[in-house]
Amino acid sequence: MKNYAQLSKEAARILADQINNKKHSSVLCLPTGSTPLGMYNEIKNMKIDFSRVTIFILDEYVGLDIKDKESYHYYLYHNLLKRINICKEKIYVINGKARNLKKECDAYERKIQKMGLDLIFLGIGLNGHIGFNEPGTSFSSRTRVVKLSDSTLKRNSKNFRKKKIPLRAVTVGIKTIMQAKRIVLLASGKDKADIISKFVNGEISRKIPASILRKHKHILVILDEDAASYL
Ligand code: PGA
Repeated sequence: MKNYAQLSKEAARILADQINNKKHSSVLCLPTGSTPLGMYNEIKNMKIDFSRVTIFILDEYVGLDIKDKESYHYYLYHNLLKRINICKEKIYVINGKARNLKKECDAYERKIQKMGLDLIFLGIGLNGHIGFNEPGTSFSSRTRVVKLSDSTLKRNSKNFRKKKIPLRAVTVGIKTIMQAKRIVLLASGKDKADIISKFVNGEISRKIPASILRKHKHILVILDEDAASYL
């Protein structure tokens, strides 16, 4: 794609097609971060009927209440959910403040397994992470608590206001992601060019968690020219 605006429009079009073309309700898994913001802005203006759609959030920080403005739930609510006609009971978020996080993760994973993901959108970290599956993550991982890598903490701290950034998060696992029927990965900007080149041309290895996506039958990677500039 020529630029971020085009990338965002294309991503929104794919999401809309998924919802409009499916006779039954669609089950989506959606990311946070800066990359999908343009897509969410497009969606808000598209008058898509979300009334039968189910949305799972991709990840969440540990220790933040879902109403906390730094939480990913708040991000998704603020940037998308409050502007679409989705039913509250069809929104699944991870409670990063649950007393028993293992139980919370297992229940979340079971819900995803039961419903099956039709389409998952992903960003990619500078270190190749997808969700919060950091380098070294097993390709058979499921929804669980993870420690954030130093590079992720450094990058995400920039957007973190007031409090100290949590050192741990909960993320949907790589195996869970790979079981989605379709995957769309978005990357924009010059700073993603290096990891995109490794993701596309490097070996499939735990060192670059996103690399396993190349084995998925229905993966679409949408890049702007900057992110694709090392290819
Ligand atoms: P970004 O994050 O969209 O803010 O670049 C992507 C990610 O870390 O997965």
